[in-house]
Order: sequence, then structure tokens, then C-alpha cells
Amino acid sequence: MTGTYRALHERSLRDPEGFWSEAAEGIHWYRKWDTVLDDSRAPVYRWFSGGQLNTCYNALDRHIEQGRGEQAAVIYDSPVTGTVQTYTYAALRERVARFAGALVRQGVTKGDRVILYLPMVPEAVVAMLACARIGAIHSVVFGGFAPHELAARIDDATPKVIVSASCGIEPSRVVPYKPLLDKALTLSRHQPSACIILQRPQLAASLVRGRDVSWSEALEGAEPADCVPVEATDPLYILYTSGTTGQPKGIVRDNGGHAVALHWSMKNIYGVAPGEVYWAASDVGWVVGHSYIVYAPLLNGSTTVLYEGKPVGTPDAGAFWRVVAQHGVRVMFTAPTALRAIKRDDPQGELLAKHDVSKLRTLFLAGERCDPDTLRWGEARLQRPVIDHWWQTETGWAIAANPMGVEPLPVKVGSPTVEMPGYDVRIFDPEGHEPDPGTIGSIVVKLPLPPGCLPTLWHAEARYVSAYLSAFPGYYLTGDAGYKDADGYLFIMSRIDDIINVAGHRLSTGAMEEVLASHPDVAECAVLGAADTLKGEVPVGFIVLKAGVRRPHEDIVKEVVQLVRDRIGPVAAFKTAAVVPRLPKTRSGKILRGTMKKIADGSEYKTPATIDDEAVLGEIAEVLRGIGYARKA
Ligand code: COA
Ligand code: AMP
Repeated sequence: MTGTYRALHERSLRDPEGFWSEAAEGIHWYRKWDTVLDDSRAPVYRWFSGGQLNTCYNALDRHIEQGRGEQAAVIYDSPVTGTVQTYTYAALRERVARFAGALVRQGVTKGDRVILYLPMVPEAVVAMLACARIGAIHSVVFGGFAPHELAARIDDATPKVIVSASCGIEPSRVVPYKPLLDKALTLSRHQPSACIILQRPQLAASLVRGRDVSWSEALEGAEPADCVPVEATDPLYILYTSGTTGQPKGIVRDNGGHAVALHWSMKNIYGVAPGEVYWAASDVGWVVGHSYIVYAPLLNGSTTVLYEGKPVGTPDAGAFWRVVAQHGVRVMFTAPTALRAIKRDDPQGELLAKHDVSKLRTLFLAGERCDPDTLRWGEARLQRPVIDHWWQTETGWAIAANPMGVEPLPVKVGSPTVEMPGYDVRIFDPEGHEPDPGTIGSIVVKLPLPPGCLPTLWHAEARYVSAYLSAFPGYYLTGDAGYKDADGYLFIMSRIDDIINVAGHRLSTGAMEEVLASHPDVAECAVLGAADTLKGEVPVGFIVLKAGVRRPHEDIVKEVVQLVRDRIGPVAAFKTAAVVPRLPKTRSGKILRGTMKKIADGSEYKTPATIDDEAVLGEIAEVLRGIGYARKA
């Protein structure tokens, strides 16, 4: 390291107010802040208190005023519908302003919530920015979630309006969204005053008179709406993510800190200039989609690609390289699982060789631990840097990365490199002491978190404090475990809670256990994330039946699999469960999920000293072998 990065990081911790107020110069403010870092309610901190801005103005209008009106803002590339459409900044603003006007006509005002349950279509970007334009708070719900999950979010966010579509398109099928929304609204206590439904040509949705209005009807006669100044500390959006229970956490993102941090990250982490094409192959339902499909590239005046397709099967494992070549993508971002899928189908890179990807500078990966083989494969095939970086829905941008725009650091395989400015990352043992370099512990971040990170949970500040700030006072608990090496490189190894990562999607095994336990024949259950060569982890369920249940086990397994699909959604990828006579427990009754996972993965494990009955581990291993797990690596 030459020291540029080190000096930058050191300054961000020594003088956070100076560092972030300089970064805030990259954003347009209607009113400058009174305080850069407001610590009056510590441990709950706020950035840029007293400042006023509009995120949509910064993402669109500002660039148009500076001469980028005719530059592409969004390239919509949809192999599943055979569409490629480009929206200039001017055209996008026109659509956003009109849809914002349509929302206003539906009675949406500053601070109201709007739920967006939409596939990867340009209207999703339009609706997000339209909310931002009028100061409404959007909450995007990923399309792969079932009605029950959507209903939980509707009840928590209490939206005035819900925006959805007639369908999403998966390679194998058209997914009718509207019946899922209708079902969710029969489950939720809260009812919106209106639903705006985008009718897609692939499937028409039936509309409920008096409540539903089509996207085009909603636009009829709508006046374009202007940007409304909001407080820097006002919420821009709520994004729900898995917690340790079935009740998801409503991560709040504020306007000011978010705009400043994301704008800073585009140049300094990703090394992307205004006018360049940037592509995050994710979904607007996830934080990566919020930050790096929509807000960051547009705040930066770059061109973003909105891709409605998969890494494989739409039509083949050359799909990503086709998009890179066709649109001149300079920097790309995807999840390791996507690269593993491509590697599986095109190990020699024959499909890659058919496309001219010479404009691509860097490929970034995040969302789950990146296995060394996949990283090396990417580097060898692409002949350019493949950069792992680590972040969470909570932080909204990278906690650790390789700052390609500041000083590219040597890559260490298995490490997302170093902590980013504003993040003071520590490794703690259970007593809150920092162990020697190389020793695994709980990863925490010293407060305050930098701008852009969650200031609280939606209407649940007590839960925010208890879930994140209480384990080690003065520190934010990331929920990840790992270590730092002697050079300060971080290694993220596992979670300390029951969250698993399935194909880059964050899921709670606790939530799945709640679903299994609701089956009338199930007495007890456990769900763990077993290692999977494609998806990183997949959930595997174990159920103990109630005494006297004589039904065939296969039927019960099929039913619990269907139950998880119906309640949580297909995205849970819960396909495997087994009936077992009993679960391994400690003498105090705690289920030994960690040991079960090690058995499933074929890893070395020690029989815990506190185990109640050792023989159960053998029974579990046998069942796991029967369903294809517990084989030595
Ligand atoms: N709407 C409705 N259903 C959806 C959906 C959506 N938006 N997204 C996924 N699903 C469904 C899929 O159809 C599938 O259903 P199935 O059980 O009937 O087959 C299920 O949810 C699981 O989907 P997925 O995770 O996409 O798995 P897959 O086996 O179809 O594809 C990969 C595997 C690796 C190609 C895929 O997981 C992938 O592209 N991963 C990248 C993930 C990513 O970018 N994550 C973002 C974090 S950075
Ligand atoms: P999400 O909130 O869905 O973005 O998931 C965040 C979690 O995914 C983190 O807490 C980690 O457990 C995991 N994760 C994300 N990126 C990485 C990475 N680069 N390396 C290891 N784990 C990661």
C-alpha cells in the first residue's frame, strides 16, 4: 500500500465531519446542514441535520441542467421479453415527474409510504424516483416473496398506495404478480387507498373496481410534479430484510447521508466517471438494486443498465458478456453465485470469447462469501480485476472493499480487502476484547457508522438498539464473524445468527422454522444452511413428528416444502427436508444447529461437551447421507 488509501481512511476517522462535508459538496443542497454529525441522541446518530435536498433532483434534474439531458440514464435490457430500450436523462425525468404527479393525484404526499412490488422493468426505477421526487418513502418488495411476506411489509409500512404489475417473467414461467398482491391484501390488516397496476403485454391482470387503477390510467391527465425539498434526515426508503424471526426488519435509509455516501462510492470505490456505463446485475428488490442499479449511478451522472434476465438460461451463460459488449459496460457488479452459474455452464469461457468485453475495467462481487475458485476463474477468464467487497442491507454501501478509484490494493483471495472511509471495523471476542490478527471473532463497527448506513429501523428504534447496538455498547454488530490479518485485510467467514445466504439472497432459517412448526404434524424442527456448489447455501429442514402421526413421511415433507414456498416464497429455495426421530440438543434443550451444519457439509466437528445424547448425531448423519449431504469434502 502506498498510503493514499491509509491516509484517506485515517482522516475519515480522525475528522469525520471534515471528510464527509467535503464529500457532500458533490451533492446539490437547497439548504446546507447545521450539523454534519449530530450526536445529540447517541448511540443513534444523524448526518447532515438541518440540511435540505431532493434525491431525485440530484439523480436527474441536476445532470440535465449540466448538459446531460441527451445522455442515456437507463438502458433497459430484457432478454426475457426481447426488449432493449434506452431512456435519456431528459426522457427519464419526464416519466418520473409525470408518475410523481400521478401519485400526488392519488393523495400521496411527503412522508407517505408507497410499496412497490414490481419486476425489473423501467417503471420500477420511475416509481422509486417519483417517490423520491415528492418526498414519499418507497418500500420495494422483491417479486420472489410470497403474499404472506408482502402482507407483513404492508402492515409494517402502512402504504397509502401500492404499485405493482400484472406479471414478472422468470425463464421458466410468467409469474402473475397481481393475484399475489390480491392475496396479500386479504392477509394484511392495513389497506392502501389505491393500487396502481402496470399491465404488461405478457399477461393482463384483472383490476378491483374502486381500488385498482392501471399505470396508464393513473397517468392520464397527471401534471408533472416538481422536486420537493426534504430534510437530509427524512427517510428516502424502507427496505425490509431478514432478521432472526419471521418479522422482517425495516431498514430505513435517509436522504442526505445516502446521497453523499453513494456519490462518493462511485468514483472512489468503483472508479466510474459520469457518462460511463455501469451495470449491477441484481434486482431492485435488494439493496444492491437500490444502491447500484438506481441511485448511485444516477447520482453520479453515469448510465445504468437495468437487466431483466438471468446469468444463465436467458438464453445461455454468455448473456452477461453480451450485455457488457452491447452496451459498453465499464464496471460491472454481480453476486458470486451468478459467476458460479456461468462457470458451471461455460467453464472454458467459449461463450465469453464470442463477445467483445474490452471496455470492461473491473468486475465487482458481493452478496455472499466469494469462494477462491470462483474469483480466480473470473480473473483468469476476464483478464481484469475481480473485486470482492462486503456490505449489508443495513449499510447500503461497502463496509470493506478495494478502493479502485483511490488506490487499487493487491487482491488477497478470500478477502473483500479493507475497511472503507468512515468504517472503524473491529474484531471482538465474546468479552469485547480484540484478539490477535488472524483470530476469528464477531465483526463490529465503532459508532458512529458513516453516512448512508441505517439510522434506525422503521418505527422500531428499540429493536434497532437491541438488535445492533446492545451486544457491545458503542459498536454496531454486523452479525458476521471473521478476522483481520496483519495487513488489515478483512476476511468474512460466517454469520453469528441464523441468517443464511442462498444465491446471494439473505434469508432467515428462523423464519423458515416458524413455517415448519405451523404444520399440524410437526412437533419440533430445525432448518440449517447446507453448503451448495451453486447457491453457496441452501436450506435443509429437519422435522420431528408429533407422537401418533402415522402419515407417510414423503407426504409430510412435500407439504412442508410447499408451505415454505407459499408463506415465504420461491426465493427461499426450500426444497429439502427430512423426518428425523429426534434432534441433537444440549442438556439445557438448545438444538445443536451448528454441529448439524458441519455434519451436513462434511466438515470436521467436535461433539459438544454439553450434548444430551451423542447417538443422535449419528442418526442425523445417516439421514443427511440419505438426502445427499454429510459426505466428506
Ligand atoms: N419473481 C418471482 N419468482 C422469482 C423471482 C422473482 N423476481 N426471482 C426468483 N424467483 C423464483 C425463481 O423462479 C425460482 O423458482 P423455482 O423454485 O420455481 O425454480 C426461485 O425463485 C429461486 O430463484 P433463483 O434464486 O433465481 O434460483 P435459480 O435456481 O432460478 O437460478 C441463479 C440460480 C444462480 C442463476 C440465480 O440465483 C441468480 O441469478 N443469482 C444471482 C443472485 C443475485 O444477483 N443476487 C443479488 C444480490 S447481489
Ligand atoms: P444483504 O443484507 O442481503 O446484503 O446480506 C448481507 C450479508 O451477506 C452480510 O452480512 C454477509 O453475511 C453476506 N455478505 C455480503 N457480501 C459479502 C462478502 N463480500 N463476503 C462475505 N459475506 C458477504
